[in-house]
Amino acid sequence: MIEYIIKRLKNMISPSRFSHSIRVAEEARKLAIHFGEDPEKSYLTGLLHDSARALSVQEMVRYLPSFFLPIGYSVPAIFHAFAGPRFITEQFGITDYSILRAVCWHATACEDMNNFDKILFVADLSESGRRFRESDTIRQVLQIGLQEAFMKVLALKVNYLLANKKIIYPTSLEAWNKTVAICIEEMNDKAQKKEKL
Ligand SMILES: [Fe+2]
Ligand SMILES: [Fe+2]
Repeated sequence: MIEYIIKRLKNMISPSRFSHSIRVAEEARKLAIHFGEDPEKSYLTGLLHDSARALSVQEMVRYLPSFFLPIGYSVPAIFHAFAGPRFITEQFGITDYSILRAVCWHATACEDMNNFDKILFVADLSESGRRFRESDTIRQVLQIGLQEAFMKVLALKVNYLLANKKIIYPTSLEAWNKTVAICIEEMNDKAQKKEKL
């Protein structure tokens, strides 16, 4: 199954995108082992996450889910993620909900990201071929935890969009607000526990 997917994927996307997908798959498997998720499923998700990337914008639009928000039409760079689930099901016969869901949110995130989703979201930027300075920071933050690394990647993406005056897809902001709310809750819990000591 994996060999068949790798063989087909190689003919679907550019060589550099293919190498990136292999590295994301390996990184996702490593993170899944570390954070207690299914490693082989994470590997498969990493392999497939950018498989719709080589489609034309018109083709991608055909695969978009009905919940895709109109504001997203100004951001074609995120089409491939939202087009991914239907494309993957059609091309590879994969119907596993957790795989399709993680692929769907790998570019923008959403407010109810589970650990399996977060692994792909982070692995996309922490894979060994990413050479920018922030990738090293993400790898370091991964030593602290998955939630911390997820927050770091989300912050990097949102900051980049703000700095470059680009549209921010609403679910990215929802994800950010939810993540900050969790942080505040955890800080309050810690403060209360300290008070009781
Ligand atoms: Fe992507
Ligand atoms: Fe990617």
